[in-house]
Amino acid sequence: MRFDTLIVNGTVATASDTFQADIGIEHGKIIVIGKSLPKDNAAKIIDAAGKLVLPGGIDVHTHLDMPFGGTTSADDFETGTRAAAFGGTTTIIDFAIQYKDQSLRTAFDTWMQKAESRAMIDYAFHCIITDLPDARLDEMNAMVREGVTSFKLFMAYPGVLMLDDASIFKALQMSAKNGAMVCMHAENGSAIDVIVKQALAQGKTAPKYHALTRPTTAEAEAVGRAVALAEMAGAPLYIVHLSSFDALEKVREARDRGLPVYAETCPQYLYLSLEDMDKPGFESAKYVFTPPLREKWNQEKLWTGLKHDQLSVVSTDHCPFCFKEQKELGKDDFTKIPNGGPGIEHRMSLIYSGGVADGRFSLNRFVELTATTPAKLFGLYPKKGTIAVGSDADVVIFDTKRKHTISAETHHMRVDYSMFEGITVTGMPDIVISRGKILVENNSFFGKAGSGNFLKRSTYGDVPKVAGVGL
Ligand code: URP
Ligand code: ZN
Ligand code: ZN
Repeated sequence: MRFDTLIVNGTVATASDTFQADIGIEHGKIIVIGKSLPKDNAAKIIDAAGKLVLPGGIDVHTHLDMPFGGTTSADDFETGTRAAAFGGTTTIIDFAIQYKDQSLRTAFDTWMQKAESRAMIDYAFHCIITDLPDARLDEMNAMVREGVTSFKLFMAYPGVLMLDDASIFKALQMSAKNGAMVCMHAENGSAIDVIVKQALAQGKTAPKYHALTRPTTAEAEAVGRAVALAEMAGAPLYIVHLSSFDALEKVREARDRGLPVYAETCPQYLYLSLEDMDKPGFESAKYVFTPPLREKWNQEKLWTGLKHDQLSVVSTDHCPFCFKEQKELGKDDFTKIPNGGPGIEHRMSLIYSGGVADGRFSLNRFVELTATTPAKLFGLYPKKGTIAVGSDADVVIFDTKRKHTISAETHHMRVDYSMFEGITVTGMPDIVISRGKILVENNSFFGKAGSGNFLKRSTYGDVPKVAGVGL
């Protein structure tokens, strides 16, 4: 048997099992998993003794090269996917935005152009719908045929991105028919707008008021409303960037009733809190994103939600803006601070460290949250998200003992600060492989711009339902 690459002596971890095995890779695919595989015909041998062999991470929520808040997110598809690879993520799902009066196809074409010659890892798109007259409903089916099988809708940002409930309901009805998944930004934008205007009228312009004007009740109300609309439409629902216990309770209730409702959270809600917005001066603009940071006690509730499958996925919502010149746009008015934070690089280590190394959940649950369930919910499984014969050879050799202190001095994201500055994680990727090719080894990068492939995804409706993911 011939292999392009043979990984030997490692401990393989999937969402269900942990076992000692060698992995043979040929033409970008895993072709055999077994004990003591023959080394004679392997072009390259990687010794993974003492290391974990994990499926490449899947980050289903990134915003690369995205115009937002009067500027553009600082990482493009080249710098962002390179940083992702350094952190052990080998697939992303980004967002193509449809603006008013535009077709969904225009959104897709625009984002394909941004990504095609730049992405270093494989990528797919959700389509953000901001304008959905009845005449455009059929375009959702056309997107699904192109492999864009999920749509993000906003219940926040009135006048910019927000969709009304009728349009949301119609989109959910369409997705119930075509098998797509609706991803919901759940915050009551209309109520928040009132609170924001009142704060500004009282001269409350500092960054912390971004968080104080977006209460957890506004998030929970929108989650509850989204669940009700999805239930009426008979559609599945995925809540993005869930940040608070109040909102989590709504998801838990829906799941307890057996509804196909899922939610993700992000490392910033697990590691940071409202207290981080007490930093002096304008510093706390670094933590202005939506939903905002919450009181610290919410963090442990979210970790528990991850353990007990109330939360199904950890993504990053990577939407980086430099502190200098970008975040500074809102120096005198928090509403002008571009919303978003950088995180694409450190998701795997932060979740391994806080989840597995700190004893909150199992290694297999870690794999499920960061790779397997994202692949299953978004039509990429079993090509992505697991270590199995026939799957793409997206593999991470992970050193569970290696410690790393996160810092803007050493990170690879094109942004001048880190949200997680000074946090020491336990567990780092040593080698990152995408479709059989080594992207990262010994802190060096070997990928090239444009080597990432666009992934045409199946629908949620097409993926065989398995425990924990199906109805
Ligand atoms: O503040 C955030 N989250 N920026 C990115 C856009 C979004 O709502 O996901
Ligand atoms: Zn959002
Ligand atoms: Zn986002």
